Amino acid sequence: MGSYHPPLSIEPVVLLLLTLLMVPVSVTGVGINYGTLGNNLPSPKKVAQLLQSTLIDKVKIYDSNPEILQAFSNTAIDLIVSLENSRVANISSDISAAHSWLSTRILPFLPATSVVAIAVGNEYLTTTVDNNDDHLDANALFKAMQNLHSVLASHGLDRKIKVTTPHSMAVLASSFPPSSATFAMNLVPVMTDIVTFLADTGAPFMINAYPYFAYRDNPTSVNLDYALLGNASGVHDPKGYVYSNMLDAQMDAVRSAIDALGFGNRSLEITVSESGWPSKGDNAATPQNAKIYNTRLIERAQSNKGTPMKPKDRIEIFVFALFNENKKEGDESDRNFGIFNGDGSKVYEVDLSCEFCSGTTSFGFSEKNGLSGGGGVRGPSVWCVAKPHADDKVLQSVLDFCCGPGGVYCREVYEGGNCFQPNKLLAHASFAMNAYYQMHGRNYWNCDFKGTGLVTFSDPSYGECRYPQQ
Ligand SMILES: *[C@@H]1O[C@H](CO)[C@@H](O)[C@H](O)[C@H]1NC(C)=O
Ligand SMILES: *[C@@H]1O[C@H](CO)[C@@H](O)[C@H](O)[C@H]1NC(C)=O
Ligand SMILES: *[C@@H]1O[C@H](CO)[C@@H](O)[C@H](O)[C@H]1NC(C)=O
Repeated sequence: MGSYHPPLSIEPVVLLLLTLLMVPVSVTGVGINYGTLGNNLPSPKKVAQLLQSTLIDKVKIYDSNPEILQAFSNTAIDLIVSLENSRVANISSDISAAHSWLSTRILPFLPATSVVAIAVGNEYLTTTVDNNDDHLDANALFKAMQNLHSVLASHGLDRKIKVTTPHSMAVLASSFPPSSATFAMNLVPVMTDIVTFLADTGAPFMINAYPYFAYRDNPTSVNLDYALLGNASGVHDPKGYVYSNMLDAQMDAVRSAIDALGFGNRSLEITVSESGWPSKGDNAATPQNAKIYNTRLIERAQSNKGTPMKPKDRIEIFVFALFNENKKEGDESDRNFGIFNGDGSKVYEVDLSCEFCSGTTSFGFSEKNGLSGGGGVRGPSVWCVAKPHADDKVLQSVLDFCCGPGGVYCREVYEGGNCFQPNKLLAHASFAMNAYYQMHGRNYWNCDFKGTGLVTFSDPSYGECRYPQQ
């Protein structure tokens, strides 16, 4: 690389290197629940485009709406689809029903749409079917999970698509202190089946956990900071664990209940499939509280932190919810869990921006205070190149980074290589940036390079110089 000048000042380069090196570590995505019980919501296509410029890289939906599955094709976003409670009995009854559901609802969208899990039912074990407090048939849930998994396995898809089911905290007999929590007695047999199944298939245990409800129902005995993810002095468990927030305590209560089934030495990931705080509807539901809770929840989701019992086991989190849903039944607060209004403006300020996403396009949502478009592409035929008028100093440091600590094999741009001509910084940097982008999974943030990168759909290769594809 003798033809390049050494950088004039070391500081910008060091800063840039640090920034670039931090990317894979610090950008841990956040999940969000995308409910659609509103008559004022944007189209799925728009939602998918808009989410690409945010931190959100996983979206959970409550059905298998083909319009949504289609909309999320070729995006950098993973999808968790759901089998509605009302369909569970059908899918449990025989494997051909599972087969036909999968082949009509899911398979047509693979692999362009990255479906990573099927949530079978939602809070199925604690949902009552009539006024006599009768619950849905617990064994049907387990059978439906087995049937779906068998069909996925027969298509070789069981590693990619996990089968699980989200529970409510009501599956626990008690949740405090966390270390002595257990499942409700009547659920122990089916929980044993489900937990064994999840451990055998490498699927996460999903729990919907809302410190909000605990605080709302008991504002005099529950500390608000503790519910809002930030109590300085903490709450002590007799086994020595100290909880600065109720969500962690709830997670460890679930962990203890699982361990009490006799699974203490098997690894089972716990995922918060829903958590959030409404901005309207009662005394606890204020925009201020919602903002504090969801801001901290998103920070928590991005961190690699576990809980006091398992500090190293990262907890994946799906925020509830993307939109306020004006057609939802129940309390007013139930319609006001959204971070966004139907028009795409934020209900309150919460930072979902992805520092390393380019976000060059706007799709019409409120620009200043809402979602903005742009983002990543995970389909075939996409490359990353340097912007035509990018600053030379930055390009130089990008090139140095890619060919050095970035790990790109840059032989092709050195003298004698196929991409040495034209001997121009822009051309050499483009080659290196594309190689880096392809190597790192073609995430939109891998083609940012301090704003000098550009994702393109036309092959930049010329003559003998080939730009690799993933
Ligand atoms: C399950 O649902 C499918 C599609 O609605 C239907 O054709 C089938 O008869 C149902 N099977 C059972 C056992 O209810
Ligand atoms: C933390 O929560 C506990 C239990 O509710 C409470 O006793 C304590 O005062 C709270 N600490 C702070 C600093 O709010
Ligand atoms: C895990 O626990 C089971 C049941 O208690 C026991 O049979 C098994 O030996 C344990 N395995 C390990 C590796 O500790």
